[in-house]
Amino acid sequence: MSNGYVEPRRNATDQVTKNSDMRITSMLALAGMAALRRDDSRVIIHFDYDCFYASVLEAENPALKSLPLAVQQKQIVVTCNYEARRRGLRKLQLIREARQICPDVVIVLGEDLTKFRNASKILYDFLKGFLWTQRAERLGFDEVFLDATDMIDYNMALLNPYDLAHSFFFLDKQDPTNGFQFDATKFCGPTYPESAGIPLSDNTRIEESQRTLTLRLILGSHLAHYIRSRLDNECGYTATVGISTSKLLAKLVGNTHKPNNQTALIPPYGLSAISREEGNIHRFIDDHEVGKIPGIGFKSAHKLRTYILHREAKFKPYTERDDKDQVKVRNVRLSSTMGPSKLLDILGGPGTPRDIGFRTWELLNGVDNSEVREARAVPKQISIEDSYMGVENFWDVKKQLHLLSTSLIQRMRTDLIDGNQGTDGEDLRWMAHPRTLRLSTRRRSSKNADGSRDYCFTNGRTSRSAPLPNFIFNLAESAEVVAEKLVNDCLVSMFRKLYPDKSFGELSLINVAVTNMVESAGVEKQSSGRDIGKMLKQQRSDAASKSEKGTENFHQDFLAQDESFLNNHSGARVDETTWEESDEEEVLSTQVCDVCGSHIPLFAFSAHALYHRVPD
Ligand SMILES: *[C@@H]1O[C@H](CO)[C@@H](O)[C@H](O)[C@H]1NC(C)=O
Ligand SMILES: *[C@@H]1O[C@H](CO)[C@@H](O)[C@H](O)[C@H]1NC(C)=O
Ligand SMILES: *[C@@H]1O[C@H](CO)[C@@H](O)[C@H](O)[C@H]1NC(C)=O
Repeated sequence: MSNGYVEPRRNATDQVTKNSDMRITSMLALAGMAALRRDDSRVIIHFDYDCFYASVLEAENPALKSLPLAVQQKQIVVTCNYEARRRGLRKLQLIREARQICPDVVIVLGEDLTKFRNASKILYDFLKGFLWTQRAERLGFDEVFLDATDMIDYNMALLNPYDLAHSFFFLDKQDPTNGFQFDATKFCGPTYPESAGIPLSDNTRIEESQRTLTLRLILGSHLAHYIRSRLDNECGYTATVGISTSKLLAKLVGNTHKPNNQTALIPPYGLSAISREEGNIHRFIDDHEVGKIPGIGFKSAHKLRTYILHREAKFKPYTERDDKDQVKVRNVRLSSTMGPSKLLDILGGPGTPRDIGFRTWELLNGVDNSEVREARAVPKQISIEDSYMGVENFWDVKKQLHLLSTSLIQRMRTDLIDGNQGTDGEDLRWMAHPRTLRLSTRRRSSKNADGSRDYCFTNGRTSRSAPLPNFIFNLAESAEVVAEKLVNDCLVSMFRKLYPDKSFGELSLINVAVTNMVESAGVEKQSSGRDIGKMLKQQRSDAASKSEKGTENFHQDFLAQDESFLNNHSGARVDETTWEESDEEEVLSTQVCDVCGSHIPLFAFSAHALYHRVPD
């Protein structure tokens, strides 16, 4: 079944005739663009675990649940639990501010991502375990898309249309007892728009295709609810969930009821072939700020705001925007002569994809036909970096290169080695071999006459790549030994080529990465969700018994650890560029402040510098 149809452009009215549809289609064709075509044949469920980092720590130590908990990377709160939010803490606050607002906040270091990565993999496998296909995609650590289309197709065919209220959802084609009972006359959980009841049986006015779509989404909402409760009961994680026909819509609509709830986007979806009424997709998406649309990056959002406002919008990628700088999807979509080619004019340029105009036009109209792709077993690259107050001499550079390389090799060993191959070292197998080594650095900007420094986002990194030597895969030597060889044999000469005249001034950042990953054959493993649930449960009860020593002590321990870290600039930070996007694990490129020595995210740097300049 395909409900794909051509949608006329914006401002369609009842007078839109077949002719003008055709005219619009050919106009787009003239511009080298295909017409918008939305495929509503899929059912996609998006999971976003609530406060993921904090939940992982709480699962490990349940005593933290009742305390305000913040996870720190560098000097920043990267996430916090609901108790902390209730007390006024927010993501991306400086730790110092967080302590002022909530002096008894428990702060846990989140620099080492190993346990979060591990939990993320386990939960992903758990969710994927419900599917009959491999169509599960992980986005960042804390989001997963499931494409449940084939399960919905199968269950649609088995519904008894005369007794929808007593339906059974089959989770397994082979085992007819595996499933759950549900009422297919109504959605499970909240919907957008809110709706008292869905006119399924009584209303003959609604089109057959719309009735089918509604029923499919009803099934999706019950499946989503079932999986959410299993995730909670067996793994101890709650999630905020969205149900619709594309990744874009499922992800966005989930946000309507958070945390720990779900939302289905209900039909009518759009301008259909027969009725020309405005659909729920436009109604829903039009109200979003352009920067909130996944797929519209912050540079594009900035250009769109500037175009619509006729002035430079304030550039604040990570913080909430002033109302007067907000531009809604509606403002862009309905502005005069807007369309793919206009968008290409606004957004195009060197380094942007050629179809950016069309793709953005699709997104603004709620169209996203991208597939739910099975997650890659291995990341595309691994990179480790750290930022500094200013590294000036070559021996310090070498020392940093050694520290970074050691972390890099350790990280390669965790992420790229298949750990399930037995306990003796003999069986360890690399799942992928990166082919390229990359070294990047950023120089500190020089001082202005008044002693201040300029900081900008694009404060250029320069980098250099070389083939990765094979000895890096040698598991017989320790990571430190391999790292030393890597520094002496490769990184030192790469560094000299970056700065041939030896004058590199002061470096504020060094990054070492392996890229160009070549996967070994047959790395994908099957795993059963249920056993993993058990493992997690076990882990939680272990943690519970370990936490006897009480919250008081935990609090002290964390604080002590945190204090020493505050004055320590040498902790390497992991750069998670391999994941597409996620606000919880946003990689913050930082800069060290001259005055107080804090690591400050680049976007906040000018404000921070100002803070020092203002006299008390
Ligand atoms: C990952 O989590 C599982 C399940 O809790 C645990 O058994 C395993 O030791 C963890 N692995 C790492 C590397 O933390
Ligand atoms: C989910 O939302 C519905 C409707 O708003 C509400 O009745 C229900 O209690 C919510 N569930 C949770 C777990 O908050
Ligand atoms: C600073 O960090 C380094 C590397 O992470 C660590 O070895 C050292 O013990 C830390 N120093 C303090 C005072 O915490």
